Amino acid sequence: MNAKRTQLIAGNWKMNNNMKETAAFIESLEEWFAEDATGGKVSQAVSQGKIEIVIAPTYTSIYSAVSSRRSDKIEIAAQNAYYEAAGAFTGEISLDMLEETGCKYVILGHSERRHIFNETNELLEKKLSAALKSRVLPIFCIGELLEERESGNMKQILGEQLKSAWKNLNANMVIAYEPVWAIGTGKTASNQDAEEACGFIRTEMENRFGAAATESLRILYGGSVKADNSADLLKQKNIDGLLIGGASLKADSFQMILKSAI
Ligand code: PGA
Repeated sequence: MNAKRTQLIAGNWKMNNNMKETAAFIESLEEWFAEDATGGKVSQAVSQGKIEIVIAPTYTSIYSAVSSRRSDKIEIAAQNAYYEAAGAFTGEISLDMLEETGCKYVILGHSERRHIFNETNELLEKKLSAALKSRVLPIFCIGELLEERESGNMKQILGEQLKSAWKNLNANMVIAYEPVWAIGTGKTASNQDAEEACGFIRTEMENRFGAAATESLRILYGGSVKADNSADLLKQKNIDGLLIGGASLKADSFQMILKSAI
C-alpha cells in the first residue's frame, strides 16, 4: 500500500446473494458505519479518501444494492459488460446500462470469465477499450494458472495479458492480480508472491506509461483473501487493495476485512 493511493476493498459476489440478501447486506454495512466503534472508523477512513469500498452483486441485484444505500460510502460494480452500446446481443449488458443503474466500476477479465466462458485476450481488449470510453471504470483482472506458475512462466503470462490490452490500459483503471490457483481454493498467495506479481505489474505499467502517469494506478490482490490474511497483504508496497470473493458474501466477514484495512 502507498499512502498516496486510496485503498480499494472490493467484494466480488459472483452468482451469489439474491435481491433480498443484497439489501440486507448493504443495510447492515450502513448500520455498522453509523456505529461509534470500528464501523465508525472505517466510515471515517472512507470520508477521508483512505479507503474505497466496492460491492459487485449480480446484475439482478445491482438495483437492490444501489437503492439500499443510505450514504455515499459504498460503490457498486458490475461483474461483466459487453463492448457494444446496443443491438442484437441476447443476454448481454452495455456499459451505459450499467452506468444508468448506478455502477461506478465493472470487473473485466475475471478468471471465471476467461476460463469457464472462454473470454479471450482479443475480446477483453475490446471490452476494456469500451469501458475506458464510458463512465464506468474497469477493474481488469489478470492471473496465471498453477501450471504456468510452476513452469516458471508467471511473468510471461501476466505480461501477455497486460500487453493484449496495451493500447487501452491507462492509469484511471484498476488492475487486479488474481492467480487462478488461489481463487476459491483457500490457498492464498504468500505475501511475498502476491507482492512480487503486483510489483511486476507496476513496473510493466511504468515502463509503458511512465512513473508519473501510473502513480495513481491501483493494483489489487485477489484469491482466498480472508480477515486473517488481509492486513498483511495490504501492508505490501505494491498492493493497493483486495478483490474478495467468498469472504465478501457475509457482512460480518467483509466488515472484519474492512477493519483490517484501517
Ligand atoms: P475468492 O475469490 O476470494 O473466493 O478466492 C476471489 C475472486 O474470484 O475475485
